[in-house]
Amino acid sequence: MRVVSGIQPTGNLHLGNYLGAIRQWVAMQDAMEAGDDCLFFLADLHSLSEHVAPADRLRSLIEMTATLIACGIDPDRAILFNQARVPAHAELCWLLNGTARMGWLNRMTQWKDKAGKNREGASVALFDYPVLQAADVLLYQATHVPVGDDQKQHLELARDIATKFNLDFRDALFTLPEPYISPAAPRIMSLRDGAAKMSKSDPSDASRINLIDDDDTIAAKFRKARSDAEALPGDEAGLAGRSEVRNLVTIYAALAGEPVQAVIDRFAGQGFGAFKSALTDLAIAQLGPVRTRLQQLLADRDAVAAVLERGAERARALAAPTLLAAQRAVGLQV
Ligand code: TYM
Repeated sequence: MRVVSGIQPTGNLHLGNYLGAIRQWVAMQDAMEAGDDCLFFLADLHSLSEHVAPADRLRSLIEMTATLIACGIDPDRAILFNQARVPAHAELCWLLNGTARMGWLNRMTQWKDKAGKNREGASVALFDYPVLQAADVLLYQATHVPVGDDQKQHLELARDIATKFNLDFRDALFTLPEPYISPAAPRIMSLRDGAAKMSKSDPSDASRINLIDDDDTIAAKFRKARSDAEALPGDEAGLAGRSEVRNLVTIYAALAGEPVQAVIDRFAGQGFGAFKSALTDLAIAQLGPVRTRLQQLLADRDAVAAVLERGAERARALAAPTLLAAQRAVGLQV
């Protein structure tokens, strides 16, 4: 098993990242057997697709790396690094740019959403973003890519690029990666709007629980989270058309590691006061220790930077054979 996944180092990690991705990363790392590898990286090259002040980019890189470690990523077992320190990502991206088609990229929903009506003003990096993402996973012959549901389309594209490259240049050069989407939390939604995903780019901080939020902030955000005037339903069918309620129940079930129906059975017929208070207790019990560990790690930022250096060295060694094979396949190397 070769597990590969990444996250953009901008802003803070939130509960959507945690339940949709990071918890799966930790579980896969913990289940690793001899011969398996887990590679987790901070996608700092991807973050160039939007303007971020350089000092903020560097600060976020260290803080997010520390957050991943606080969440349970163990840099002695998993390979934890930042993309920019492994030049093979950008090199392979350029080779794949010869294979990817404009039409494929034009269909990407993230491109359409982020560029909006201002396509002429969007960066080339935003358009090419999915090709770099394909390079990220193909470079390591990834077999499993644990991500939230929103990244599924990008991974399907990575498979299309790999298939065409293999067909055009060398049979079976790239392994086709399988997305692994958390069944419990494929898409955590905003606490303010059940139709929007929880996101670090949402201007309202009340829309998300950040992993650095203190207990009072977590409590206040769940208290103010949108629900409705009815009681909690007695079965899953009763969540239909109640997207905010479904989201809160999903969060509870994912945090508790229980099926949605078990949560519904416990709270059926109750109002949201009691439910939100239990949800807050659960979130604080899980996120409190992560926050404490994060604060300890951030007391020594140089040590966190050293983790990234060591990870990049290991990643460079794993990346080299596939980059060379791809260069040979297209005729850039003998
Ligand atoms: P990013 O930084 O937006 O998010 C990191 C991970 O968190 C997941 N996620 C969510 N899951 C459930 N509910 C949500 N509300 C939610 N919000 C975010 C994302 O699906 C993702 O798994 N393009 C990627 C980073 C990337 C990458 C890669 C991922 C770059 N190269 C290669 C996998 C493989 C991104 O921007 O994720």
